[in-house]
Amino acid sequence: MTDERQRLEELRRLIRYHDYRYYVLNSPEISDAAYDALFRELQAIEARHPEWITPDSPTQRVSGEPQAGFRRVRHPRPILSLASVTSDEEVWAWLDRARRLAPKGARFDFVVEPKIDGLRVVLTYLDGQLRVGATRGDGEVGEDITANLRTVRDVPLSIPLRKDDPSVPPVPRRLVVSGEAYLPVSRFAALNAELEKSGERPFANPRNAAAGSLRQLDPRVTAARPIRLFTYAIVDGDGVPTQWEVLHRLRQWGFPTTPDARHFDRLEDALAYVHEWMARRSELDYEADGMVIKINDLALQEALGVAGRDPRGAVAFKFEPREAVTRLREVEIQVGSMGTLTPVAVLDPVHIGGVRVEHATLHNFQDVARKDIRLGDMVVVRRAGDVIPYVVGPVTSLRTGEERPIEAPKECPVCGGPVIQRPDEVAVYCVNVSCPAIFVRRLEVFASRGAMDIEGLGSRVAHQLVDSGLVRDLSDLYYLREEDLLRLEGFARKRAENLLNAVEASKERPLWRVLVGLGIRHVGQAAAQALEQHYGSIDAIMRARQEELQAIEGIGPTIARSVVEFFANPANRRVVERMRAAGVRMEPERRAGEGRRPLEGLTFVITGTLPGMSREEATAYIEAHGGRVTDAVSRNTDFLVVGEAPGGTKMRRAQELGTPVIDEARLREMVEQQAR
Ligand code: IVH
Repeated sequence: MTDERQRLEELRRLIRYHDYRYYVLNSPEISDAAYDALFRELQAIEARHPEWITPDSPTQRVSGEPQAGFRRVRHPRPILSLASVTSDEEVWAWLDRARRLAPKGARFDFVVEPKIDGLRVVLTYLDGQLRVGATRGDGEVGEDITANLRTVRDVPLSIPLRKDDPSVPPVPRRLVVSGEAYLPVSRFAALNAELEKSGERPFANPRNAAAGSLRQLDPRVTAARPIRLFTYAIVDGDGVPTQWEVLHRLRQWGFPTTPDARHFDRLEDALAYVHEWMARRSELDYEADGMVIKINDLALQEALGVAGRDPRGAVAFKFEPREAVTRLREVEIQVGSMGTLTPVAVLDPVHIGGVRVEHATLHNFQDVARKDIRLGDMVVVRRAGDVIPYVVGPVTSLRTGEERPIEAPKECPVCGGPVIQRPDEVAVYCVNVSCPAIFVRRLEVFASRGAMDIEGLGSRVAHQLVDSGLVRDLSDLYYLREEDLLRLEGFARKRAENLLNAVEASKERPLWRVLVGLGIRHVGQAAAQALEQHYGSIDAIMRARQEELQAIEGIGPTIARSVVEFFANPANRRVVERMRAAGVRMEPERRAGEGRRPLEGLTFVITGTLPGMSREEATAYIEAHGGRVTDAVSRNTDFLVVGEAPGGTKMRRAQELGTPVIDEARLREMVEQQAR
């Protein structure tokens, strides 16, 4: 073998290994950039030697040509469904029945897994090579979506035959594995935003997104979608005796499995686990519509047989649905603190996931038009986790003909001012700077718990303060006098005092809360905290330039631009100055229990090998004392920490910028001297 050929094999092995670390073990060893470098190197060799390309090469996931249709494939065994239940009693009844039907002396233990709401897929491997990937279809015959499934990076193209590792059992000649392909919840919104941007129809939920992405004829489209996979069954292969071992075996062979499966000896404990997830389902990065309780002993499952389409050996405990259908009565328009006009649906009240829902967002008027939602429609309303309930779309089959179109307003419903649409944005805005609705909302946001946390300043009081003319900009709050407040309806001495005390107390709020409260577009808590951490003072933030801001982790160009625009406005700077003059402190937060943080506000870059600590240790050390560590030397770098064999670029850049260069000993001194 030539060197190049050897390198090719080596690269494929490395890439498969790192895929396994990333997708199966969830613990990558190398950076994305390093992975990409390996990948590109492999691509380059294959470009020089097309004759060496094999179908299981990591570069061969996207096959290219759109297909005319899907071939049908018969599954080796029926792919079954699951009976579902919604209460503990039903689960106990299920177990009772299973006990009665079970052979004498059968032992019952259980595996509980999330029931992933995705697309069921069936993967067939021959001699360790992926041959067919299919949908479940009707359970007997599915659609051949191999070309699409090959693009899913979680799906092993070949099973790493780790002959070197005796603890990994051999892969059977023919292996059929089944699982669920899904779209992570965290990627769903971004995918929809992209689709909308390019004028395509967004998906109603992550399940449809996964199914739609996999059941489509051009694999290149699938390749661009962040589809993931969890496997949970060996349909055909070795006789692995228990479900728990199936999961283990699948992992050993390189298939991803959910980290949230557990084994229990007693049904009580299994049920407790089900309930735990019921309460925490919104933490999962995949949609789960329930938990599956499986009898662990697969021979016993088999012996229990099926009832209709449902195996008796497992049962799905369904979570409460997140959707309901109800009538859309009216559309109200809400004016946000940034002037956004949002259509809000007024609904016939329904219960979704145990909560009464009467209002749901319609997102924006473009969305309403695209989905053709009309007044009087029966609509699907969805409430998932912590998100605000929203209208998914109309049920057009239930239309009576009486429904009326919903039109976008031409003027602000509050101030009557003109409404504009910004390029690149779907929302319509009221741009009247003195629109009372906008300012009232700003005041509410300023006083809210997520910002300055001023007790007693809710929506009603905000309206009163604005309507009476007492508060015209946010800083006016800090110049309120008791006699002013006494003029307002419902304000006696005690209430006025309480409000003034609450306003007074808010002067001590940390800087990030002030930043959130100011209402800078796109600056929420995370961005505000990043700004506070990085700059430590409002003056530094007001001075910062856009390039500088967007170099900060967590601050993208949109936020950076918005911050610069905000402080470029003299009226906004004046508000800050008046607040400061009134005694608002705007200092960085000191977290409770933390002692002095001697490196607070300082940014370090490390280069070379330090004598007494590894790169990770040094980073942890700096961060533990309040400092920040970044990768590249910039104007924001306070110190370059240098060890042996430092990087030339960093040294040169530090010299250019005059960044102080220190060694490890000096770093330790800085901490120790100031900590005293
Ligand atoms: S077991 C006999 N386990 O739910 C085995 N199914 O309603 C039957 N599903 O068709 C399937 N997560 O598409 C099983 N951890 C899980 C699952 C799961 C999701 C889906 C699957 C199945 C449907 C049954």
